[in-house]
This record gives sequence, structure tokens and C-alpha cells, in this order.
Amino acid sequence: MGLVKKIENKIVRPALRWARPAKRVTLGGITIEYKAELDGGGIEFGQDFIPFLRSRNMPKQQRAFEWCSGPAFIGFSLLGNGLCETLCLADINPAAVDSCRGTVRQNRLENSVSVYHSNNLQSIPESERWDLVVSNPPHFVDQYEGDIRAHDPGWNIHREFFSTVPQYLKDDGVIVLQENNRGSTVETFREMIEHAGLEITFTHGDSKELTATSEFFFIGIVKKGASPPKWAK
Ligand SMILES: C[S@@+](CC[C@H](N)C(=O)[O-])C[C@H]1O[C@@H](n2cnc3c(N)ncnc32)[C@H](O)[C@@H]1O
Repeated sequence: MGLVKKIENKIVRPALRWARPAKRVTLGGITIEYKAELDGGGIEFGQDFIPFLRSRNMPKQQRAFEWCSGPAFIGFSLLGNGLCETLCLADINPAAVDSCRGTVRQNRLENSVSVYHSNNLQSIPESERWDLVVSNPPHFVDQYEGDIRAHDPGWNIHREFFSTVPQYLKDDGVIVLQENNRGSTVETFREMIEHAGLEITFTHGDSKELTATSEFFFIGIVKKGASPPKWAK
């Protein structure tokens, strides 16, 4: 990288991002202040989680976790809309974690929300146990290099997540991931999921082949051999 490009990427762009005013959105009665560069689509297509989980008649979950939370548009919306009792959030980006902590403070949610700065699940306390895990994780293996919102090199972020999540998932817990057919299909993940001792219990909206434009789909995952709750069958 040339010196000018380096200065642009390391100094000018971050300074402009810092100076940009925060945005604000209210989801399920919870107000979230966030910087635009933290939004990975959770405010838009990520909100499809709410009608989707309601359409499956999912009862209120005791504890939900949003993996790769960013500002946690999905997690806070679940909480605000009464789909979970308490919430756990984690992201690798310290700015996203600060945003989540600000939302907790401003909405006085200290008793119901825990926020962790964590590369994948590496810094999540062993005592955490989740009934529901949701995520809109990075969607592309071969595009957007250098953009942590979008790029998952070698699908290693997904692979590590599948191999480490079982210890945190209750025996009848359910993982629901929102993925993008522009970057993957259900089959992209099946082997990783099964190798981790998990299994796919439902899929919704997968086009079964890569698409030219973004088309989002859901994958429901449970522990292998577990009897999933009725809403996830
Ligand atoms: C598609 S964005 C989703 C953000 C937010 N959930 C939303 O829906 O707008 C993906 C998120 O994954 C986070 N991320 C990327 N790699 C990660 C890792 N190794 N561990 C934890 N979070 C990661 C990024 O910082 C980013 O916030």
C-alpha cells in the first residue's frame, strides 16, 4: 500500500468516521444510538427475525445471545418486542461494544443485558447458557476483504463459532442464523455444523444456489439428537 493510501485508510477515514454524528433508531421501544459504519443490515433485513420467529410461534425465550452483534439491532429488538427475558451480546469491534453499552445505559437495561468484547466466543464467560442464539454474521468468503462486517476468510469465523457454541447452548437451545444467498447456501455450512455435533432443524428462504443480488435466508440449528422445541421443528 502506498503512503498516501495508508494515510487515507489509517488516519483520514477513521477521523471522518469519528466526526460523523451518531444515528438513532428505536426498536421495540429501545432507543439505539450508533455510527452508520457499524450497521451491517440489522436495522433493515435483520428486523425480519421478529415476524419470522413470531410466525413460528416461538414463545418468549429466557436468555438470547446475538453473535456478531454490532450495535445489536436484532438483539435489542428481540428484547423490546418481548421475545426474550434477558440478552447477551458480543462483537469483536470495540466501537460496536461501546455502542451496545451506551444503549444499555441509556435505556437502563443493566439488569437484563450483558455485553462482551469478544473475538467469536473466546471471551464469553463459561457460565453463560443460551436458549436462543441469533445472528446476521459476515456473509462472504471471497469478497469484501478487510471489511469485518462482511468478510469471513475461509469461513473460519463460522467454523469456529459452530465448534465452540455447543458448550453455551442449552440442550434444547436453538441457533437461528440469517445468511445471504449472494454469498452462501445452506449447503455451504452443513458439514461445519454436523462436524461440531449440531444439526440443521429447519431452513427458510434458501434458494439452493448463489444469487446475483442479496437474498436472505434463515438456518435453524440444534444439538444433534436433541429434541428441539415445537417452534423449531
Ligand atoms: C454483518 S455485520 C452485523 C452487525 C449487526 N449484527 C447488524 O445486523 O447490523 C457482522 C458483525 O460481525 C462482527 N464480527 C466480525 N468478525 C467477528 C469475530 N471474529 N468475532 C466477533 N464478531 C465479529 C463485525 O464486527 C460486525 O459487527
